[in-house]
Amino acid sequence: MTDGRTPSDLGTTIAGVRFPFCAMNASGAWSSTAVELRDLARSASGAIVLKTVTVHPFVHPSYRSLHNPGYDRYLPLVRELAAMAERPVIASVGGATADEFATLAHAFAEAGAALVEANLADPYVAGSLAAGEDREVLRAVLARMTSASAVPVSVKLPERLAYPYPVLCDELAAAGVRVVITRNDFAGLEKLRLAGGGVLELIAVGGVQSGYDVERALAKGAKAVQVGSALMTDGPGIFARLAREMHLARRERVE
Ligand SMILES: Cc1cc2nc3c(=O)[nH]c(=O)nc-3n(C[C@H](O)[C@H](O)[C@H](O)COP(=O)(O)O)c2cc1C
Repeated sequence: MTDGRTPSDLGTTIAGVRFPFCAMNASGAWSSTAVELRDLARSASGAIVLKTVTVHPFVHPSYRSLHNPGYDRYLPLVRELAAMAERPVIASVGGATADEFATLAHAFAEAGAALVEANLADPYVAGSLAAGEDREVLRAVLARMTSASAVPVSVKLPERLAYPYPVLCDELAAAGVRVVITRNDFAGLEKLRLAGGGVLELIAVGGVQSGYDVERALAKGAKAVQVGSALMTDGPGIFARLAREMHLARRERVE
């Protein structure tokens, strides 16, 4: 224990959902198997974000990041993890049509997910659905998902957007979607925050390795961060370390 001020609350509230800690796993990182997801449930992660799943089992040699056994295998796990009620469960969903996104959003909301994350960033989704290319497609996906889901919908942005941020923000606002998972860099986070006019609730993903990285993302306008590669290297103990480092950065007492 070091001397310092009383530790501040490192939790956050996004779309009305309370997260006990503002750092959580990124979809797909330590979140493919029941064992991994239960590990996250026992860790200090602010949420349990499932790997991206599709309606049908998905196997394609060129799109390994989307390999999954189909969403129905994950529904019992979501029920189990949501019943523990210690941290929100977030389902990440992918597909090639707005219909598929709606089916998945409905099923996971029913099973107890607190949020449903539309993964528009996956290369297969970006190539086949192409919501980053065509605002009409984005509009259809958001409209179908929000009407199918009893819980808030969030969007993980594709690497490339063919339309400018004000158009994206208009479509998000029209659908009532406020939560965006965005790249943790200037163009992804700060420019989007400015374009969003303070309405969006941003979760930054990319390159977070330390509590100082979390603090920097928060200072730039993120409400939370997701951790991918560093979680794969360090394991779920990383969340307790991030919290310790954040308290140190704030000159607060550390247990
Ligand atoms: C092993 C692994 C699997 C991933 N699987 C998914 C996935 O299923 N869905 C998704 O949206 N992103 C997936 N990603 C991308 C991460 O969610 C994250 O966006 C990316 O790793 C950048 O964060 P980082 O710099 O902290 O690694 C995966 C990343 C890793 C390392």
